[in-house]
Amino acid sequence: MPARESVLLVWPAGGELKAYRGRCPHVDMPLSDATFNGQTVTCPHHQWGFDGASGKCVTHLVRNALHPYEIRVLGDEIQVDVGPIKPARAGASPPSNPG
Ligand code: FES
Repeated sequence: MPARESVLLVWPAGGELKAYRGRCPHVDMPLSDATFNGQTVTCPHHQWGFDGASGKCVTHLVRNALHPYEIRVLGDEIQVDVGPIKPARAGASPPSNPG
């Protein structure tokens, strides 16, 4: 089974395109329905806000921050380095049949 990794892309006003892991650092919920006002990414689950340029939490006194990914723009292609990806389920591949 191929592994999947969600990526959150934001382009802060006056800044550069950023890529973050698409999971909230609060309790690891998906950020697929997060909102973005040009400056702050707001998680839909408990409304924590994160600065789109730095990824730092701006609504709570915590160290939780969006996990950044390296990003490269080549022509009309956006490449995001999400690092090594773990298999979705260890041991999910069918047993080999040597004979
Ligand atoms: S999971 Fe995002 S604020 Fe709680």
